[in-house]
Amino acid sequence: MSEGNFYKKIVCIGAGYVGGPTMTIIANKCPNYKVTIVDISKPRIDAWNSDDLPIFEPGLKERVEKSRGKNLFFSTEVDKEIAAADIIFVCVNTPTKTFGEGAGKAADLQFVELTARRIKENSKSDTIVIEKSTLPVRNAEALEAILHSGNNSVHFEILSNPEFMAEGTAISDMESPDRVLIGSKETQTGKAARDELVKIYAHWVPSERIITTNLWSSELSKLVSNAFLAQRISSINSISAVCEVTEADIEEVAFAVGKDTRIGEKFLNAGIGFGGSCFRKDILNLVYLCEYYRLNEVADFWKQVVSINDYQVKRFVKRMLRAMFNTLVGKKIAVFGFAFKPDTGDTRDTPAINLAFQLREEQARLSITDPHALENAKKDLEGLEGIEYVEDPYSTAKGAHCIALMTAWDEYQSLDYQKIFDSMEKPAFIFDGRNHLDHQKLYDIGFNVFPIGKPPLLHH
Ligand code: UGA
Repeated sequence: MSEGNFYKKIVCIGAGYVGGPTMTIIANKCPNYKVTIVDISKPRIDAWNSDDLPIFEPGLKERVEKSRGKNLFFSTEVDKEIAAADIIFVCVNTPTKTFGEGAGKAADLQFVELTARRIKENSKSDTIVIEKSTLPVRNAEALEAILHSGNNSVHFEILSNPEFMAEGTAISDMESPDRVLIGSKETQTGKAARDELVKIYAHWVPSERIITTNLWSSELSKLVSNAFLAQRISSINSISAVCEVTEADIEEVAFAVGKDTRIGEKFLNAGIGFGGSCFRKDILNLVYLCEYYRLNEVADFWKQVVSINDYQVKRFVKRMLRAMFNTLVGKKIAVFGFAFKPDTGDTRDTPAINLAFQLREEQARLSITDPHALENAKKDLEGLEGIEYVEDPYSTAKGAHCIALMTAWDEYQSLDYQKIFDSMEKPAFIFDGRNHLDHQKLYDIGFNVFPIGKPPLLHH
């Protein structure tokens, strides 16, 4: 045991969306390991230590409470914890670079490098360093060079263990994952480190679901997994445009296509487009990698996935404009949902941001509602005028010319749409960006209904 009754000490650097839930589950499942999550942000750590966790994730709070103070700790003492760690997970953010070479595509690695230097300066004994953040392929090489630079005699073994959990389902994704991927060097020390990590996951993950590969395959598989998922969404969304002009129905097409077991049914829901912190970032990362190796045709192929996603919002706004008599000036638009998907307050790269900017360009007035994302929405749209943020969806819709549904929150299905209709300007429109509502019922109430990838239901 490395300290007290613990077999090993795990430290996770970065108390965000990835580090927090992942480490909580490891702590739950491995009571013989001490798990400490460190972060330089004191307010963030204070929140993790309080009843009001900094992220909203169903089931997370109970699981934090189960282990916090026993084998799960949150701390700002980064250096001290690094010094005591046997195993370090690097969970810092790797946003898309906004400056210099690769701006808009490459990953910004400044936080990873700073973290590596901090690990190098503070580690006192041989340590396993695990890339959990999504990183460019061959990043482990750079990490290793930094960690082994200077005259620190400590040996670091680097593993890649990408995260596959999705927000909103993070807990079940972690508790029963499709697979756990671990990339290591094929050396003796590499394999020994890999076995240590396998041992952790083996506490709850069946062995056939723990995949081991070389480091570069693991790093690349993470990017490719997200690129494939996003590609499916852009594929079905591109077809939704075809449906709208041919009177085919995207749900019927998706169902028929998805029944082929080689294609499968999942991730074929057409909508306003994908958002979240990963899809766009990871595809652009892949594009950058391809361009770096002069694989321009491959880069162009993947770029198109992002273009279609942006096009989907543009198309949606254009449809609103056409339907509402070619002018939105001064019209109140009720935006139902701002989070990039339900069950999260996260608004990173949500299509609702683009929608808001484009509607403001048309000089519409926006009234935005969301059960969990209003605070983030305010930050995202800071400086943009003509927008109000309203908790109650009924007030949001009052006096509005249309509703634009952006997030498939359950509660939007059970609202009293007759009451909403009665309070709106006429003719009243609903643009359902997630095909989430009962369109026939809305039409019967009196709405003009515009789903995605289906013919509109119109009263005129
Ligand atoms: C995604 C992946 O699903 C995870 O496997 C991965 O670990 C994670 O990124 C990551 O790299 O961190 P996440 O971004 O949380 O997870 O959300 P998803 O559930 O994948 O949804 C992404 C977006 O696609 C959402 O905006 C959602 O509304 C949209 N979507 C999803 C569709 O428009 N249609 C679909 O059929 C499915």
